Amino acid sequence: MDTNAPVAVAIEDVTFNYGRFKALDGLSLQIPKGMSFGLLGPNGAGKTTLIRLLAGLLKPQKGTVSIMGKSPSRLTAPITGYMPQLHSLYNELSIRQNVGFFASIYGLKGDDKRARVDSVIKLVELWDRRGDSVQNLSGGMRQRVSLACAIVHNPPLLLLDEPTVGLDPELRVTFWDYFKDLTSRGTTVVISSHTMDDAAHCDKLAFIRSGRVIANGTPEALRLGTGKETASLEDAFLYYIRLRDNAHA
Ligand SMILES: Nc1ncnc2c1ncn2[C@@H]1O[C@H](COP(=O)(O)OP(=O)(O)OP(=O)(O)O)[C@@H](O)[C@H]1O
Ligand SMILES: [Mg+2]
Repeated sequence: MDTNAPVAVAIEDVTFNYGRFKALDGLSLQIPKGMSFGLLGPNGAGKTTLIRLLAGLLKPQKGTVSIMGKSPSRLTAPITGYMPQLHSLYNELSIRQNVGFFASIYGLKGDDKRARVDSVIKLVELWDRRGDSVQNLSGGMRQRVSLACAIVHNPPLLLLDEPTVGLDPELRVTFWDYFKDLTSRGTTVVISSHTMDDAAHCDKLAFIRSGRVIANGTPEALRLGTGKETASLEDAFLYYIRLRDNAHA
């Protein structure tokens, strides 16, 4: 990991409201290129909203977002792979057809497309099930198909909204091995999660609550920032919440 890496994602003072409800509240964050960056926070913290802004599906009411120096839009779609929290797969289509559909959207064609589709299906260990329709798969298998769809075009920025939910422990390890392989080759991987197991794997993290970043840094720095060497990441999260609450009391 290169800590002086250039910035892949820059978020400046972003506010996003759903009607009168403020989901993101002046959030700022810089995500360096070529690392795994975790967005950690409880239900309703604003993680999905933030990822959807990065994917160009929502626009901030205030502040700016930039992906590799560009504002998220159709133009940044080819450099971004987005895995939504709720799957956007076609239930009646087979695994291969689903992944092929996303490959076509991203402009892959012919032999190149076939090779990429087959290679990502093998990677998520569903080759034997490639002809099965998605509706016949288990939840974890659908999760794997969803990841395959997001990575098929080999994008330099991956936006993964809770990619490890519902995975068995063995597959979770496989996913993380894969994410580490991607970042070692320069891909930036943004991952939202609730679990401190995912958090510990990330090169850097932002703890998010009520639409704001309450702390960010490497897992080690966040842990040690509590002043206790033995603090877990969970302890650290609670510590920064209390620190913030006390500052606003
Ligand atoms: N379409 C919507 N309309 C109104 N409010 C919404 C909408 N989507 C999200 N919200 C609200 O915005 C807040 C942030 O939601 P978001 O989905 O970004 O949280 P999250 O951190 O991804 O949560 P989770 O961990 O449960 O996935 C929540 O209070 C939620 O109720
Ligand atoms: Mg979410």
